[in-house]
Amino acid sequence: MKKILGIVGSPRLNGNTHVLVSKIIEGAEKAGASGDIILLKDLDIKECDGCHSCWKGNECSKHDDMNKLYPKIIESEIIIFGTPVYWYGPTALMKAFLDRFVYFNCPGNREKIKGKRVLLVVPFEEDDLRTARPLINMFEKSFQYLEMTLIEKIIVPGIGEKGAILKKQERLDKCYELGKKLAIRDEL
Ligand SMILES: Cc1cc2nc3c(=O)[nH]c(=O)nc-3n(C[C@H](O)[C@H](O)[C@H](O)COP(=O)(O)O)c2cc1C
Repeated sequence: MKKILGIVGSPRLNGNTHVLVSKIIEGAEKAGASGDIILLKDLDIKECDGCHSCWKGNECSKHDDMNKLYPKIIESEIIIFGTPVYWYGPTALMKAFLDRFVYFNCPGNREKIKGKRVLLVVPFEEDDLRTARPLINMFEKSFQYLEMTLIEKIIVPGIGEKGAILKKQERLDKCYELGKKLAIRDEL
């Protein structure tokens, strides 16, 4: 059974990011996968202060909720990174979460995430797709560096209000179908 972890980096409960990530997980579960959604807003994840402890293979020196998340990340086959565009980048919640992936920099820990498949889910208000470009670049480079494989990007312009995504049924259906495929296929 495939394990799929959805990370929601929006501070809005039931916001657009949450809805999109949930649809993928819903589809995946329907097709037999085991899904889990993490709302970063509910966790205490401190910013990395660059102490380099984890780079040397030691436990992260921050004793916060990220230490509970590392095992979940490691045991998941597929990870969905969901964040709205905030000033042409991700939310601060998502950036703090990603920064803590330096834990996976030392050779011992890198093996634990190398080759994992990841998806990016990004809603935003402006209609211009280029709005998401800096954010996408940042994730593409980071995933490449971490040796994870970005298999799908769900980039949704033109949604600002909380719940605006609910009016885009076609998008939601696509996310649901995508989730089903993730559960049963090794390639998309
Ligand atoms: C602090 C902040 C910054 C934002 N910056 C942008 C932006 O640069 N471009 C854009 O298109 N939308 C921007 N937005 C709008 C959000 O991306 C949009 O409302 C999105 O649908 C929120 O997703 P959520 O419901 O998952 O929180 C911003 C919203 C906030 C609160």
